[in-house]
Amino acid sequence: MRYEDCDKYTNSALRPDDTDTYPQRLVGEFITNVISNEWVNKEYKHLVLEVHDHALTAYAGQMFHLLCPSPDGAEVWMRRPMSVYRVNKPAKQIEFLYKLEGRGTRGMGLLAAGDEFNIAGPLGQGFKLEKSWKNIVVLGRGVGLATLAPLSQLAAENGVNVTAILSARHRDVVMSRDLFEGLGAKTITLVDSDGSSSVENVEKELTGLISRGEADAFFTCGSSRLLKLMQALGKAHNIPGQVAMEQNMVCGFGACYVCMRTFNVNGELTLKRVCRDGPVFNMQEAVGW
Ligand code: FES
Repeated sequence: MRYEDCDKYTNSALRPDDTDTYPQRLVGEFITNVISNEWVNKEYKHLVLEVHDHALTAYAGQMFHLLCPSPDGAEVWMRRPMSVYRVNKPAKQIEFLYKLEGRGTRGMGLLAAGDEFNIAGPLGQGFKLEKSWKNIVVLGRGVGLATLAPLSQLAAENGVNVTAILSARHRDVVMSRDLFEGLGAKTITLVDSDGSSSVENVEKELTGLISRGEADAFFTCGSSRLLKLMQALGKAHNIPGQVAMEQNMVCGFGACYVCMRTFNVNGELTLKRVCRDGPVFNMQEAVGW
């Protein structure tokens, strides 16, 4: 496992008016070792990498930029951003849970135990927990649940209770339930196939949690309609929230401005870089996917 020292990688992209919340963080390019890369269902695979100690500083919501192998012999031009699924410090491993849908992830799907895999990071601003929060609600759908999963680890380390509402097309592709439950989270599974994932039903679950005092903060990823619902309930009940945004990226560290999205900051529409200013943002500022 090699490590190319480039600890100014992120900071070099700062403009004079930028602030860096973590000025001392180490960001690097790592040649990691693939430990395993197994199917978890018909659509998703779980990649486990042995990494350098510096990569283990990644926290919930942060991402790595992955140099995916080609699935078909033609060049894969760009790295692919992917949020961390799990950081296993004792084993010195980083894990990713991903859906095979584009050329990058199909190339990743070909990795086998013993291969090398080039990753750069950790990048971006992840989730943060406030000390006053004792109960948080996590609501995600599809592959967005892989991004939210490390919140269970962060919450467990900070003695915070988690209710995770997991939404999916059908029960076979509900992601991350084992990880949430293994770390003590209460889970609620809602699926399209029996109609339980309707916005009305999700709203009923959320209002129940609010009325029982089990919702100090909201977290979401993976669905515009669920984001809108949490924004509305958060506003009505004065519950703060964070959202992990998904976006195509090129550089991944703030230099190219390809990943700009519009945010509503205090009533003013503002452009922000998802890779550098996020990918986790104040939920009320997000305009949606
Ligand atoms: Fe280059 Fe975000 S991907 S600035």
